[in-house]
Amino acid sequence: MTNTDEFKILFIGDISAKPGRQAVRDVLPEIRKKEKIDFVIANAENAAGGKGVTREILNELQSYGIDYFTAGEHVWDKKEFKEDLEDTSVPLVRPYNYENEKEIAGNGWNLIDLGNRKIIVACFLGKTFMRQDVRSPLYAFDEMYEEVKSRVGESELEETPFIVDFHAEATAEKRVFAWYVRDRVSAVLGTHTHVGTIDTMLMPGKDEKHNCAYISDVGMAGPQLASLWVDFDSVIESTKFPYKKSFKVSKSEKRIFNSVLVKIQKKSAKSIERIDKVV
Ligand SMILES: [Fe+2]
Ligand SMILES: [Fe+2]
Repeated sequence: MTNTDEFKILFIGDISAKPGRQAVRDVLPEIRKKEKIDFVIANAENAAGGKGVTREILNELQSYGIDYFTAGEHVWDKKEFKEDLEDTSVPLVRPYNYENEKEIAGNGWNLIDLGNRKIIVACFLGKTFMRQDVRSPLYAFDEMYEEVKSRVGESELEETPFIVDFHAEATAEKRVFAWYVRDRVSAVLGTHTHVGTIDTMLMPGKDEKHNCAYISDVGMAGPQLASLWVDFDSVIESTKFPYKKSFKVSKSEKRIFNSVLVKIQKKSAKSIERIDKVV
């Protein structure tokens, strides 16, 4: 494969607890083979029991065929994972747009060298209805892009697929972010709500040769009968009563697998389509 060949990327929404990992295990190998996927990215912020992720779980998910991970506000839920992220070879980007980005463990973006190809992956948090207070993703993106330009080099950047996970609640905010960055990246793929949206589209760039693939939310890999990944009864209990109650992982027999397949040539997206399964 060379730089000019079509590059097929599969992106999986928030992998949620054990049912989510099992859905990935049961579904991904076949999709990978059938669609001849070159690179698989997944949001892993809920992969460990719904709350955070660990190094062991990343290893497990890699064994099912995932190459790289993004995250969200839950990436810090497992205390020890902060130490893991000090090792910058961990294949995960955490959100970039923190006030004190430079002091925070891990990378907010990364250039991944696959030998014959390179790819850039980045992660941002939205501001609307989100629990963590973060910087404007628009200003933060501009700043990050300058960093990417100086580290990767402008000519190489023009040829390199660039995927952004925009981890946010509000669809309106997601679309505005995507439109703002569309000339500079190959795809803006929304995560966080765990509910897939149907608005796959190519956003045309100012340069007519460039398109940016977009979806408001990819969805998740996780239990079907659940609120996010949480058992309904435990949510109802904590909604009705003020007592502290821990959320339980839903025991739903059916599990969903939500993903999008994005085809990219050089840096421009050619197509985006949903691939969803129920197992
Ligand atoms: Fe999530
Ligand atoms: Fe989230």
